[in-house]
This record gives sequence, structure tokens and C-alpha cells, in this order.
Amino acid sequence: MNVDGKAYRTVWSDNETTSFSVKIIDQKKLPFAFEVKELLSVSDVVRSITDMHVRGAGCIGVTAAYGMWLAAHESHGDPMLLRSFADSLMSSRPTANNLAWAVERQLSELINADPIDWTEIALNEAKLIADEDANWCRRIGENGKELLFDLAKNKPDDQTVNILTHCNAGWLAFSDWGSATAPIYAAHREDIPIHVWVDETRPLNQGSRLTAWELEKEGVPHTVIADNVGGHLMNTGKVDIVITGTDRTTRYGDVVNKIGTYLKALAAHDNGIPFYVALPSSTFDWKASEGGLGIPIEERSQDEVRKMEGLSSSGELMSVELTIPSVSYANYAFDVTPSRLVTGLITERGVCDASEKGVMELFSDKKQLCKS
Ligand code: MRU
Repeated sequence: MNVDGKAYRTVWSDNETTSFSVKIIDQKKLPFAFEVKELLSVSDVVRSITDMHVRGAGCIGVTAAYGMWLAAHESHGDPMLLRSFADSLMSSRPTANNLAWAVERQLSELINADPIDWTEIALNEAKLIADEDANWCRRIGENGKELLFDLAKNKPDDQTVNILTHCNAGWLAFSDWGSATAPIYAAHREDIPIHVWVDETRPLNQGSRLTAWELEKEGVPHTVIADNVGGHLMNTGKVDIVITGTDRTTRYGDVVNKIGTYLKALAAHDNGIPFYVALPSSTFDWKASEGGLGIPIEERSQDEVRKMEGLSSSGELMSVELTIPSVSYANYAFDVTPSRLVTGLITERGVCDASEKGVMELFSDKKQLCKS
């Protein structure tokens, strides 16, 4: 997508013939500053994922794929070392499926190849994974925009279609386009009148900081709301559809996504509002149990809840304490929305029911992967 007239991906490599350098858009600085950060080693990559300079399921998968290029270089032909780099990349964040998916895909390309070819193979594969991710998200946009067209058609007098989204499943969360936002961008570019309610998404505010920034750059009308507002908007007729992303989805249609998604799904269900989840196939965990049982739910530092970051009146990025130090906090980063609350899944292959039947009809070639 474009930032001030220049096309960007979220992760890319630079000067590959002379150096091992991975570039990322530093998401920790947005929306206050747009900065590109350079990663020069596997440990730089691991840190950038753990500390969330890059975040979002697809984006961390692509970053880890490039991390495997650096791992191929740093392991000097030693398969044990390569595996241990792969392990540290995979454990840099536990919940998003795309991370392990990308690293395992790289490992399977490398492990039986001649080590002399490792860096070339890993770089090509990282680029392929990045391109595929962007392409899948673009197709999610094409498939999902039909839902918005239908809603627009059934509205009297060209009234605006109101979409509610949670967290950031935009282009920053992938290589390009995004999952939940791809149908929004596609519909907006075809002049469908839309407006997006953006949940701010405490504790890290990916909604107000990242989704709102993205939508503004693309000229999509939007309004940021506090996380508790969605239910009220839904039962006063101000939401036509909810579209979120996901970090991991079971083949039964259960959706693991940013904490608070479940509450939005409950409110949507109670108000008869369609609740769709957009994802590329790399986010399906084909082996996961029904209901998402056993999927690791990341718990992050209490500090992310205790404090809040923003700009001071003098324009400095600063963090403030929200209450007295003796208060204790919990910071669960994700929740599971059961399939019964999900109207449908928007994928690169089409839209399907959030059920084993719906998913496996679209992805019958993945049957083998479902066996544990
Ligand atoms: O903790 P994050 O920011 O990496 O969480 C991921 C998310 O932004 C959301 O859960 C998103 O909806 C899914 S990622 C495509």
C-alpha cells in the first residue's frame, strides 16, 4: 500500500548481493513517526517480533521467513544450529499460526538441500512467502467486497455501510493489503459508501494507532471508539457487519483473535449482525482441536495494561502510569470465538461457513494436514 505516495510492503530485504539485511516498518513508532528499521541478525528478528516492532499474524510470519534467510547465513551449514535458530524464531510469539507455518516451510526447503545453497534457497522462499501473503490478502479483498456490495445494495438511498473492526488486521498485519481491511479497501476503491468503526483495542491500541492510520492514508471514512462501545452501536442500528482478522483458526471455524473479539461476536450474535472473519490459508491450524482447546493464548507483560503510551503536549512519545503501583494486572492477548458465533470465513479461495464442512469443502487438498 502507499505511504505518502510511495508503495511499501511491511517487510523486505535490501542489497541482497552484498549484505544480509531485512527491513521492516517499525510499527511501535506509528502513527507518530514512520520509520524503517534494519534487522541484521536472527536475534534482531526475534527481538523485533517479541517486542512487537512487527506484529500481526501474516507480518510476523513473513518476518520470520526472512529471519530464516539470516539463520541460513549464520548457521554456516550446521543443521543443528539452523534448527535452533528456527526454534527461537518460532517461540518469539506463541499464538499466531503463520509464524510456525513460515518457519517450518523454510526448514523443509533447507534441511535436505546442500548447505552451500541455503542462503539462496531461503531468500527465494522468503520472497515467495511475502508475495503469496500479499496475493492471498488481495484475493480476500476481492471475495469479501461482495459482502459489502450486497449490504450496500440493500440499503435505501445509497446510505453508508457501517463496518466494525477490532485490532489491526490491516496491511501492517501482513505483507500487504491486510485481511479484515482488504474487502474494505477493495469496496472503497470501487466507490461503495463505507464507514469503519475502529475499536481502539487496549492495551496496545493497535486499532487507534495502526488501523486508523492505515484507513486515513487510504482515505476511508472511519471513527475510533473505545473498546466497550461496539455493543451499544450494534443495538442502536449503527453497525451493518463486523469483520475481524484472526491469528489462528481451527478447521471447525473457531477463531483465535485479539482479546475482546469474543465480546464483539457475542454482541453481533445478539443483534443479528453478520460477524465475518478474514484470513489467508496460512492462518488455519489444521490440527487444532474443536473449540480451539490447547491453542496457546499469549500472556504479555502487565506493564502493557498498567501504562499507556502517547504524545506529550511537547510532541514527545511518552508512557504514563494509569494508576498506583500496588495495583496488579493481567494481560491476556487473545481470546477464542467459537464457530457458532461466526457467520463466515473470508479466505483467498472464497467465503465459507465457519464449520468443518464449510472449511474442508474449500480446502479439500489440506485433508492430509488434519491428521495428528
Ligand atoms: O498482538 P498482535 O498485534 O500481533 O495481534 C494480532 C492482531 O493484530 C489481531 O489479532 C488481528 O486481528 C489478527 S492478525 C491478522
